[in-house]
Amino acid sequence: MKILILGSGGREHAIAWKLAQSSKVEEIFIAPGNAGTSMCGTNINISPENFSEVKEAVLSTGVGMVVVGPEAPLVGGIHDFFLQDDELKNIPVIGPVGAAAKLEGSKDFAKGFMKKYGIPTAPYRTFDINNVGEARSFLESLKPPYVLKADGLAAGKGVVILNTVNEALSELDAILTGKFGEAGKKVVIEQYLRGIELSVFIVTDGKNYRILPEAKDYKRAGEGDTGPNTGGMGAVSPVPFATEHFMYRVEKRIIKPTIEGLANEGIRYKGFIFFGLMNVNGEPYVIEYNVRLGDPEAEVILPRISSDFYDLLEGVVNGNLNRRKIQIDSRYVATVVLVSGGYPGKYEKGKVIYGLDLVSDCIVFHSGTKIENGNIVTNGGRVLAITAYGLTLYEALQNAYRNASLISWEGMYYRTEIGFDLL
Ligand code: AMP
Ligand code: GLY
Repeated sequence: MKILILGSGGREHAIAWKLAQSSKVEEIFIAPGNAGTSMCGTNINISPENFSEVKEAVLSTGVGMVVVGPEAPLVGGIHDFFLQDDELKNIPVIGPVGAAAKLEGSKDFAKGFMKKYGIPTAPYRTFDINNVGEARSFLESLKPPYVLKADGLAAGKGVVILNTVNEALSELDAILTGKFGEAGKKVVIEQYLRGIELSVFIVTDGKNYRILPEAKDYKRAGEGDTGPNTGGMGAVSPVPFATEHFMYRVEKRIIKPTIEGLANEGIRYKGFIFFGLMNVNGEPYVIEYNVRLGDPEAEVILPRISSDFYDLLEGVVNGNLNRRKIQIDSRYVATVVLVSGGYPGKYEKGKVIYGLDLVSDCIVFHSGTKIENGNIVTNGGRVLAITAYGLTLYEALQNAYRNASLISWEGMYYRTEIGFDLL
């Protein structure tokens, strides 16, 4: 099987790395990819959001499967585009159709879905410019902190949590008057949930599913979970508080009703579901759905799958995931993301990365790199995800940090306490 992976980050490098280990996978293409993915396959310099370029790449390479990494092409309907095109309709896409990608693309849709199917989530209401008055009184009826969410995709910045009602009221106005553009035409206001977050992942063929290793990611830029939100500064798996008992509840109250709800809506979901959960005194609540793997979560999840990952994807395509096995490595895996100085704000690109030849006993997943004049240089905010195994979480973190300290470029930064809250 020849496979095309869409995307250019650490998640896509991890997917390519894992698929390259399968004896059933002949060749891998990554579009557009990065310097790291070019070590697992062939990069194709196109945008995953330009569907006609994707079509051309599929036809010219002869791939028999497309794995979509990021959410934007899914929410934009890439799977539907394939189904409606005579030359592409028989090429399976791993990733849901647009109607299901709305679970990530519209917070209002996701909340309505959860309400309809009795899936635990924070109580909420949705408002738009026509009922600002009601939105204001609703906010005033809640206790702080206040959670406001732009309905649409806002590059991970659409959720705002505020401590005073006055800040919340002015944020409400800002969102409804275009702070997040189209994404903020509707705003979801919901109750704040106090607890500890984790991410649970499944892969599904629409009927059957397999639970992948869970992960915890570290979203804030600064030490001790402070500073602005980022795509993720590190991750660990397994998550010690995701006990068998807790995961039983997640499966019963969240995973099963989600799969059944999708089927009931007439949606044949083929791909990954990422459940962003809050553990509130041992009870799981859904904070958000994502319709893809997480980044940097994929960089700890995929190394923990010891069985053939392609076999699972084949099960998704053939609708027989129930007959596919997944084996999980019991070791801990930790990843530390090395970022460009200034990220998630303004940062420079094109800095030469030193020390890549010095690392050992780790996997260096590339998030934002490219090759320039024979050097590997930075090409994004998140640059590398240094991933390591350990028999304990502490050992995995030590291995990741020891290797992270060997790498450098001008302005490089990373958090030095990823996973420490769990030790
Ligand atoms: P999201 O973009 O939906 O993942 O939200 C970003 C972050 O906001 C989440 O990872 C949580 O830390 C936080 N968050 C979102 N909704 C809530 C909530 N209802 N209660 C507490 N924290 C929340
Ligand atoms: N790391 C969070 C995400 O991928 O959405």
